[in-house]
Order: sequence, then C-alpha cells, then structure tokens
Amino acid sequence: MTERTFSMIKPNATKKNVTGGINALLEQGGLKIVAQKRMQLTREQAEKFYEVHKERPFYDELCEFMCSGPIVAQVLEGENAVMRNREIMGDTNPEKADAGTIRKEFGDSIGENSIHGSDSAENAAKEIAFFFSEMEILPA
Ligand code: GTP
Ligand code: MG
Repeated sequence: MTERTFSMIKPNATKKNVTGGINALLEQGGLKIVAQKRMQLTREQAEKFYEVHKERPFYDELCEFMCSGPIVAQVLEGENAVMRNREIMGDTNPEKADAGTIRKEFGDSIGENSIHGSDSAENAAKEIAFFFSEMEILPA
C-alpha cells in the first residue's frame, strides 16, 4: 500500500550540513520526498508538535533543542511509508541503531538523533497537516 508519512530533519543535522546525506538514505530506502521545506520552529510550535511528550522528563530539553536551529519538514511517500521510514531511521537511541540507519550515521545522542518520523498513519496525517498546506504537496 502506497502511503505518506511526515519526517523532520532535526537541528543537529542541519547544523552539520548533512541534510543531503539523510535524504540519500531516505531515497535509497525506497521513499520519495514529495514535499520539503527548511524552517525555524518557534518554541510554541515545538511545544505543540511534541505535546504528547509533555509529561516526559525530557520535554523541555527536547523543545529547546528543536527550536535551536533550522529543521527540514518533509512529506515522504512509498510502500508502507510510515513503518519503512522508521526502519530507515533506526532506533531512537543512535547507539542502539543498526549500521546504515540514519540515526546511526547522523545521530549524536538520544535527544539529538537527527530525524523524526511519524509513528502511525493517523499521526502522520496530523503532523503533515500541522506543517503543510494542501498547495505545498504534490497530489497523491
Ligand atoms: P520521534 O520520531 O522523534 O518521535 O522518535 P521516536 O518515536 O523514536 O521516539 P519517542 O517518540 O519515544 O521520543 C520522541 C523524541 O524525544 C525522540 O526522537 C528523542 O529525540 C527524544 N527523546 C526520547 N527519549 C529521550 C531522552 O531520554 N532524552 C532526551 N533528551 N530526548 C529524548
Ligand atoms: Mg515518536
């Protein structure tokens, strides 16, 4: 089933100028980047995006980091894109991620792990709508 997911390259990766390397792994993994924009999140936007993690001890640190530099918001398309993208990203903790995954190659720590990917089709739809208007995305 062809579907879409939301992806976000995090500030540690834009700072290191490795967005091209990350995109290459996404494309080699079989996903197509159908929308993409580089932007700076405000603290309010970061807090809203990560609202589900509000009660977690790292919430403040995470929101602070996510607006510490530019991010690249993306819509990815492909076979089982949500789960496929999570395989390509690798484990949340770069130290535990398999070789060849994005987080292993480009992650610096569990917080600064270089990329976010939606964890379900339902959240993908919400996250895409949060970042992109209809006009900014190629029709499916
Ligand atoms: P996302 O794709 O970013 O949602 O990652 P995930 O689904 O693999 O992990 P999870 O949803 O559990 O956590 C969301 C984000 O919170 C992670 O990507 C990390 O950047 C951050 N995070 C998770 N655990 C920790 C932690 O122990 N410390 C810090 N600083 N950040 C954490
Ligand atoms: Mg998650």
